[in-house]
Amino acid sequence: MARSAAAPSARGSATRPDGGRIIILLGPPGAGKGTQGERLAADLGIPKLATGDVLRAARRAGTPLGLEATSYLDRGELVPDSVILGIMKEALGEPAAARGVILDGAVRTVPQAEGLQSALAGLGRAVSAVLVFDVPDEELVRRISSRTICDACQTPYTGLPPGAPCPKCGGTLVRRKDDEPDAVRTRLAVYTRQTEPVIAWYQTHAVPVIHIDALGSVDDVAARVRRGLRAVE
Ligand code: AP5
Repeated sequence: MARSAAAPSARGSATRPDGGRIIILLGPPGAGKGTQGERLAADLGIPKLATGDVLRAARRAGTPLGLEATSYLDRGELVPDSVILGIMKEALGEPAAARGVILDGAVRTVPQAEGLQSALAGLGRAVSAVLVFDVPDEELVRRISSRTICDACQTPYTGLPPGAPCPKCGGTLVRRKDDEPDAVRTRLAVYTRQTEPVIAWYQTHAVPVIHIDALGSVDDVAARVRRGLRAVE
């Protein structure tokens, strides 16, 4: 099944949030959420919450959260909604989040979208925009099979082998356990079954949904992200 690489387009009507922009990044595994989220957070000067990074860090640290998440992570399945909502609420309560926040992969089910909406309403805030990164499956598999990540700063790389030093921080590059073929198949199926319905949920809740053609260079995709966000400002 291929995912269409649609031109940037905005749907739904814009809702201006109070207290900084809250931007959700959606897309299948390997679509570039982490790569573009890092750039966008730096461009906008706001923090990024990547739930996958939080869960992997908790696992490395051996915390109760990490122990609970391990089997879900390795199989490529979603951790329970209650766990994710707890992480999101804690992050939204941080002083830095008052300026806005990029939510990278933090909303993957309709109950998570509902829970976030109600938590934000309690803070007098709302989601500003949802960016959906569209990439065909064959490109997703190509990216994931050649990916390593830094075991310290979590930056992903393509084409650098496991064991090499991270160009950014000097940490060691490793392969993610959930980048093995069986887990990747599960993650793609989970995205279709549980996360794609979140796109329609936001459209029916009048939140701008911007589809980004995420094929091409990282710079080209970043430029489409900036154009897409300007269109709904
Ligand atoms: P997570 O870590 O978020 O994994 P994912 O969603 O599967 O996404 P990836 O990290 O694989 O890809 P990405 O889109 O960030 O792409 P990247 O920038 O790395 O989540 C892992 C697990 O945590 C989940 O399976 C689940 O178990 C759990 N979890 C997390 N959030 C949850 C939630 N809300 N609910 C329940 N469970 C949750 O790029 C991929 C590769 O491509 C990299 O090598 C990169 O260098 C390269 N690349 C990027 N852009 C380009 C480009 N334009 N051209 C060529 N290469 C590119």
